[in-house]
This record gives sequence, C-alpha cells and structure tokens, in this order.
Amino acid sequence: MDNIHLERVTYLNWHDIEKLRVTGEQECFLPSNMESLAYAGIVREAGFHVFTFGIYMGEKPIGFAMIGYDIPYDPDDDLNEVYRFTRSSYFIWRFMIDKRYQGRGCGREAMRLILDFIKTAPCRKSEYAWLCYDSENTVARKLYASFGFEEVTEAGDVDDEILAVLKL
Ligand SMILES: CC(C)(COP(=O)(O)OP(=O)(O)OC[C@H]1O[C@@H](n2cnc3c(N)ncnc32)[C@H](O)[C@@H]1OP(=O)(O)O)[C@@H](O)C(=O)NCCC(=O)NCCS
Repeated sequence: MDNIHLERVTYLNWHDIEKLRVTGEQECFLPSNMESLAYAGIVREAGFHVFTFGIYMGEKPIGFAMIGYDIPYDPDDDLNEVYRFTRSSYFIWRFMIDKRYQGRGCGREAMRLILDFIKTAPCRKSEYAWLCYDSENTVARKLYASFGFEEVTEAGDVDDEILAVLKL
C-alpha cells in the first residue's frame, strides 16, 4: 500500500474531495465532506487549528481526513475527568474512504499516515490523539482498536458516540 498518501485540501482539489461518498448505510456515521470542509473553515475562523487532507491512491482521490488540535469535546463540561484527554491533543475529527475503495486496506494505511502526521507535532507535541464513533460502527471501532485506541466512554454517555483515546 505504498501508493497511499495524504494531500492538503486546497482550492485546487477540494471539489474532488467533496465528491467522495460513503455507502448509504454509512451516511449516518458522518456528515458529507462538503459539510466538513465548510465546518473546518468556520472552526479555523474561530481560532482553532484544523487540518484537512485528501487521501490519495496514486493520483486518485479516495478519501478524506480532518484533524483538529485542542478542540474541546464538550466546552460546557470542561472539568469532566473523561474529557481531560481532549485538551492540547489531536482530534481525528473526520475519516472516510469512498465506497468504491473500501475493504482494500486503504483505510488502515491512511490511518497509519494520519498518526504519522500527528506524531510530527504540527501544532505542539501532544500526549494523546482521540476520536469519536457511533457504537454501531463496528468496522471503524475495530480498526481504531487495532491501532491502540482505548474507549473512555460508553455508548449512552453522550448519545451513541464512543470517545476513544490513543497514547502517542
Ligand atoms: C472506516 C473506514 C474508513 C475503513 O476504511 P477501509 O478502507 O474500508 O478499511 P480497510 O480496507 O483498511 O480495512 C480495515 C479493517 O476493517 C475491515 N473491514 C473493512 N470493511 C469491512 C466490512 N465491510 N465488514 C467487515 N470488516 C471490514 C478489514 O477487514 C480490515 O480489518 P483487518 O485489517 O483486521 O483485516 C471506511 O469503512 C469508511 O469510510 N466508513 C464510512 C465512514 C466512517 O464510518 N468513518 C469513521 C467515522 S468515525
């Protein structure tokens, strides 16, 4: 899988990335890439660090990833012990592989590259990376666990989302 790589989303490639789609059954797991790109702009304007990447197989765009830094999980509940991981750490906010390219090892390779990027400390060096997923999302859940992400909330704590943390 050495032809998988990440490229920053810019005005040159955003339209290719916006066109990528998950399957109908997966649409409940994340918003469209267009919505995520719009949200990234809003969050940046609010002063947060957000990185948006196209995932490429050779020259072909096949997926999308969005990473934030020091994003409060729940700004209203900052003192909750569970959420301490989310401060000054990297949030893998969005991650998807287009339905035409799923199940071929691309997601696993892309996650490896995302973690390599985070380990370069693009904002500051951090102890943790974290992410959230729907408890029904068994493919993502198993994939993240295989990289060492540990679940720190249970489904039902905050909707049906599970928060998982990786010590870098
Ligand atoms: C999660 C996702 C990114 C994985 O990408 P992918 O390219 O299909 O993943 P890979 O082919 O690298 O497979 C990763 C693992 O999942 C398994 N897997 C992939 N698709 C599967 C499926 N439909 N059923 C069962 N297992 C599956 C693979 O066997 C592999 O396990 P292994 O490495 O232990 O053999 C992709 O399914 C996706 O975009 N899903 C919709 C969006 C989403 O849910 N994003 C996460 C939000 S938190």
